[in-house]
Amino acid sequence: MQQTEHKKRVFVTGGAGYIGSHVVLALGEAGYEVLTYDNLSTGNRDSLLYGDLVVGDMDDKELLVKTLTAFKPDAVMHFAASIEVGESVSNPLKYYRNNSANALNLLEAMRMTGVGQMIFSSTAAVYGNPAKLPVVEETPLLPINPYGTSKMMTEHFLADLSLADKDFRYVALRYFNVAGADPQARLGQDYANPTHLITRALKTALGAFPKLQVFGTDYPTEDGTCIRDYIHVADLAQAHLDALSYLFAGASSAIFNCGYGHGFSVTDVVDMAKQVTGIDFLVEETDRREGDPAELIAGCAKIRNVLDWHPRHDDLETILKTAWEWEKKLVARGA
Ligand code: UFG
Repeated sequence: MQQTEHKKRVFVTGGAGYIGSHVVLALGEAGYEVLTYDNLSTGNRDSLLYGDLVVGDMDDKELLVKTLTAFKPDAVMHFAASIEVGESVSNPLKYYRNNSANALNLLEAMRMTGVGQMIFSSTAAVYGNPAKLPVVEETPLLPINPYGTSKMMTEHFLADLSLADKDFRYVALRYFNVAGADPQARLGQDYANPTHLITRALKTALGAFPKLQVFGTDYPTEDGTCIRDYIHVADLAQAHLDALSYLFAGASSAIFNCGYGHGFSVTDVVDMAKQVTGIDFLVEETDRREGDPAELIAGCAKIRNVLDWHPRHDDLETILKTAWEWEKKLVARGA
């Protein structure tokens, strides 16, 4: 999708986090004016390569209103959220607070300040354990963990608000498994204790963890481990820019899956991590992790057709290699 001609302003919550920072970089490179709002609880100031930062909490509505009033954005991108499926099972209220209640706060602040366009970071976890694969956007939402439910609730807020207010339009992007790092290694995931498979595997290869645990080998899949649709973070960032152009062109609210349409098992990922790193790290098969669906694969025709999204890194090896370059850089930096 074509870029709009004049410089637009985008307010980015969670812009110092893993996905947010890649999107901020893509926005900056595309000539947008960007302001990030982040409490730096998991985000990192050094990850912001464009625009200014306001350090604030998502439950601070007064600061949100003040910041939106001063910046006057054309659109909001809302990344700030808690993102771990396992943690959401043990601490559900954290997820309903951070992912649902705080989104409501942001929407109220947007209404108070007349900001009417939003791109929302949703998740494939809203689908739960889908009966039919690949999972398309019309599939009923049946989340099986509080993380998915918390994001589904925010999707309901957005849908209802867009029906009630013709000046409010949104795009919800349902991310599948986001991984990899900026191909120039300027950015990547930067958490000391990551739980996501690919980062965890690479950090295990580097010796940060003694072993990688594989959570469950008795799933109804070919090799018994869970299958996921891994999408490169740079392609996901481009999807956000395409969604923004879509909204700025005046199109109606919409929901898009963000994935490639094919999946890899945990075992596939572990094998590729060993190949890319050249390190035969220790792997231990353990029990299932609570809240994990067996298989998630995106139906991705809609985003390709409607947003004219053209992914450039649809390759597991590229995902692992870019993430590996980033992990080595973190070690060199002493992080
Ligand atoms: N896994 C392991 N060992 C680990 C970490 C993960 O075996 O150390 C397994 C998990 O059990 C799962 C798979 O690897 O089967 C992927 O797990 P991740 O934690 O990397 O990612 P999730 O699939 O749990 O969740 C991610 C995002 C969600 C999104 C979901 C959609 O965090 O936001 O993908 O597929 F909803």
